[in-house]
Amino acid sequence: MENTQRSVIVTGGGIGIGRAVARAFAGRGDRVLVVGRTPGPLAETVDGYKEAYALAVDITDPAAPSAVADEVRERWGGAVDVLVNNAATAAFGTLGELNRQAVEAQVAVNLVAPALLTQAVLGPLEAAGGVVVNIGSAGALGLRAWPGNSVYGATKAGLDLLTRSWAVELGPRGIRVVGVAPGVIDTGTGVRAGMPQEAYDGFLEAMGQRTPLGRTGTSEEVARWVVRLVGPEASFVTGTTVVVDGGLSLT
Ligand SMILES: NC(=O)c1ccc[n+]([C@@H]2O[C@H](COP(=O)([O-])OP(=O)(O)OC[C@H]3O[C@@H](n4cnc5c(N)ncnc54)[C@H](OP(=O)(O)O)[C@@H]3O)[C@@H](O)[C@H]2O)c1
Repeated sequence: MENTQRSVIVTGGGIGIGRAVARAFAGRGDRVLVVGRTPGPLAETVDGYKEAYALAVDITDPAAPSAVADEVRERWGGAVDVLVNNAATAAFGTLGELNRQAVEAQVAVNLVAPALLTQAVLGPLEAAGGVVVNIGSAGALGLRAWPGNSVYGATKAGLDLLTRSWAVELGPRGIRVVGVAPGVIDTGTGVRAGMPQEAYDGFLEAMGQRTPLGRTGTSEEVARWVVRLVGPEASFVTGTTVVVDGGLSLT
């Protein structure tokens, strides 16, 4: 893809990694539609960027894929060069502690919604020779187990398979599909998934110590690779997931 202005959709852009990704694209002059459920954080993300727009929508809503496609049509004529499937939800629990609502929510947000949203913008992506970026998780790659977070991990392992499968399906149409798999990034996500703040702080401390580079990562360190994988230097890269985890998944 050329290094000119792009039209970008980022889901889950109100906080953390999604916010950093949205701002990284907006900061280089791209048009960005930032999607999430909560209007306040979305407005904060786009504040100060001339061509960044917020859309408050639940991506699990059956009407969401067409609402997003309609929004980019109204905002800038429907072009889509980049779709970043970043929104996710997690709920901790070992088998025996799971409840239907939490299991279904993780599958709906982390797998069903990216599949249907990507499908809704395939036409514009093909017209642009565009790129889909799926944000996975370093913890769910390979043959690792994830006790206590198995359903979330399964959705992220599934997303990784979607990345590889879509790369094969969409390569002939000129669309690249790549993944970025973060390690532990302090975005507050553990608290949103149900951990008390103190426990999350302890988790971050312990994971930082276990990480070969000796710390947790930042959202900006992940966002940088999303932008890099979209650019012309990655024009022959598809189906690949780049791990941005300070070496944690090797331990
Ligand atoms: N942080 C980490 O350590 C880490 C590690 C590995 C992978 N990841 C992955 O990196 C991505 C970003 O993680 P994060 O930690 O920055 O944030 P996060 O806690 O995973 O939340 C991401 C965003 O998703 C949005 N979202 C959730 N459900 C939604 C729905 N139904 N419709 C629309 N938006 C929805 C949330 O906004 P609303 O609640 O306002 O909708 C939030 O802005 C995720 O895919 C995550 O799995 C994170």
